[in-house]
Amino acid sequence: MREQSFTHDEMLALSRLRAGFLDGTNAGGAYWQSETDLALYDCTFAERIGWKWDAVLAELTAREWSPRARHLYDFGCGSGVAGRRVFGTWGNMESLSLADVSPLAVRFAEAKARERFPQVQLRSAGETMQPGSLLLVSHVLNELNAAARARLIALARQAEEIIWVEAGTHADSRALIAMREELRGEFTVVAPCTHAEKCGMLSPGNERHWCHHFGHVPSEASQDAHWSQFSRDLGIDLTTLPYSFLVLSRNGGGLAPGATRIIGRPREAKGRMEILSCAAGGVNDLTLQKRDEPVFFKSLQKGRAASVQRWSMEDGKVRVPKNE
Ligand SMILES: C[S@@+](CC[C@H](N)C(=O)[O-])C[C@H]1O[C@@H](n2cnc3c(N)ncnc32)[C@H](O)[C@@H]1O
Repeated sequence: MREQSFTHDEMLALSRLRAGFLDGTNAGGAYWQSETDLALYDCTFAERIGWKWDAVLAELTAREWSPRARHLYDFGCGSGVAGRRVFGTWGNMESLSLADVSPLAVRFAEAKARERFPQVQLRSAGETMQPGSLLLVSHVLNELNAAARARLIALARQAEEIIWVEAGTHADSRALIAMREELRGEFTVVAPCTHAEKCGMLSPGNERHWCHHFGHVPSEASQDAHWSQFSRDLGIDLTTLPYSFLVLSRNGGGLAPGATRIIGRPREAKGRMEILSCAAGGVNDLTLQKRDEPVFFKSLQKGRAASVQRWSMEDGKVRVPKNE
């Protein structure tokens, strides 16, 4: 976050931008009116999005997954946070292409990338993508109509690998699931799925669920006066960071069979945890009794349990391996 408080005009600009993101009719980046808009966005909304990217990249790194692609293509780059987070994680990339319907946004993102990574080779992004590219998409889907989504799918088909992060809302997660269904025949699903079958969320009875996860808000943010002002004045809850994501690859790297992913946050009730889980067999509501797995129960309670688990079911009870 920056050094000074936001002025009244700056808060108005942030509020206008937010309305633009939420209002699906304001598509096409028309809300970027000036470089100041992008600078304000970059140290606020984009920084929060950056924390979501941190969570996704940390999971991939923990799984020792890294892209083979050497060219980054950030579609709908805005101020360019996705490209910078990924370049900061895998610095062996040869080039970065920044694409946005707003030329103002592309110029801003390019300048930021150059400032942070002077060695980066910036390419102008066209409709075609450099062979061997890692496509990044971040918080764009709700701004795209059907035709623009179809163009993005066509672009995605040119990619070697894809990392796609969206908001953790029901609508955005469901839209991302639709993209997964379009693409999964051509790619390995690396994450978040533990399988390559049709998404279990699409099975009858699961309409109310959505695939979402929670990132970590840095503790500095909760103590920072400017984040407090941002949160208070815009009515944004800073303590929670839901996101949905999808990682696809043409080079394998999916989870070994048998893994289960915990969706969202388990809900604690008296002596038990209600867990929404996803595995090859589908999406299921499970109940974990504290008395059956006290150590694992505690790690869930403290939010420390990994979201990918290798438990088994015995007589309807969740059993975690001893080292979990
Ligand atoms: C909410 S912002 C997200 C920006 C950035 N990806 C991030 O995560 O911070 C959505 C971005 O998508 C861009 N956008 C909207 N429609 C687009 C389209 N049809 N083609 C390319 N970019 C588009 C907007 O200009 C805007 O920069």
